Amino acid sequence: MRVVVFGASGVQGAHQVPVLAQAGHDVVAISRTPKPLEISGKKIETFAADFTDKAKISKALSGADVVFLNLPSTSFNPSGPILQGAKDIGEAAKEARVKLIVFNTSMPVPKEPQNIIAQDDRREMKRLLRETGMPVISIEPVVYIDNLLEGWALPPIRDRNTVVYCHKPELQVSWICHHDVAQLMVAAMQRPELAGRDFAVGGPETVRLEQLTGKLSRAWGRKLEFECQTVKDFCEKIGATMQGRGLETEKIISQMFKAYTYYNEAEDEPFNVDMGPVLKELPVQLTPIEEWAKRRSPPGW
Ligand SMILES: NC(=O)c1ccc[n+]([C@@H]2O[C@H](COP(=O)([O-])OP(=O)(O)OC[C@H]3O[C@@H](n4cnc5c(N)ncnc54)[C@H](OP(=O)(O)O)[C@@H]3O)[C@@H](O)[C@H]2O)c1
Repeated sequence: MRVVVFGASGVQGAHQVPVLAQAGHDVVAISRTPKPLEISGKKIETFAADFTDKAKISKALSGADVVFLNLPSTSFNPSGPILQGAKDIGEAAKEARVKLIVFNTSMPVPKEPQNIIAQDDRREMKRLLRETGMPVISIEPVVYIDNLLEGWALPPIRDRNTVVYCHKPELQVSWICHHDVAQLMVAAMQRPELAGRDFAVGGPETVRLEQLTGKLSRAWGRKLEFECQTVKDFCEKIGATMQGRGLETEKIISQMFKAYTYYNEAEDEPFNVDMGPVLKELPVQLTPIEEWAKRRSPPGW
């Protein structure tokens, strides 16, 4: 099938392109400034398009069977253009007779609004996409285990052998890797009759931070410690790194505080996903934590 991947150069899309290519699909990798791309010696078609340019999107979607849709965060970017992008992509896909959109919400989207903008925007994106009449399957991942090797989580692991995350000690988390989200999206694409469904997805194991640290220690062959950072401390530290960057720091931090408080305290445990029923409908081999860690580790380890 011809599959157009939006956000193909981002961390999520970059894992979807090889999974699709290795499954034998023709991939079109979209971003604003794509670089030449090869997977296992095979050239991948790229297409430069800003999702605010509807004419370009329509061109990119010509002849496509399926769209994999990854959109940037509205935690750090204004919501308006990204919501409009979702609507335009849905309309262009409908006009181009695309059969299915597999939408990666990139985060949990609770059915009950929690007054958290990033989540509310994801819910609205789904609504806008479906309002166009396009069949849409929504894949809604919990926290990415790959986050440990990025941004603020990497330095304490790399520099002092300590996993620091803003999870309370008893929080049960079904960490998922980008590769498994990609596999689940491919499985969803093969079942267009699931259009209209929303799937909260996690990895194969649900663990507390202490248990996660034990697994990483074994895989990486070194004794790691762990620290359950409070939401307050986490937000203060992020706020300090954002000073002077011209962002609406206070608003972003107060939203982050709400979101992480929700993840830690919500009764419906948004980070705890039983994948048993999901795997019956989207059958894939999920990656155990130690397996993931054997494949990926902090740079230089
Ligand atoms: N669940 C979790 O644990 C977790 C962790 C981290 C992030 N997230 C979420 O993941 C999302 C971010 O995903 P990501 O990390 O893949 O983002 P990213 O790495 O920043 O990538 C964004 C992608 O979108 C493309 N893009 C951005 N603006 C565009 C535009 N106007 N037109 C066309 N393409 C555009 C970028 O390519 P170009 O710049 O080349 O156009 C890139 O390919 C956010 O919603 C964030 O909240 C979730």
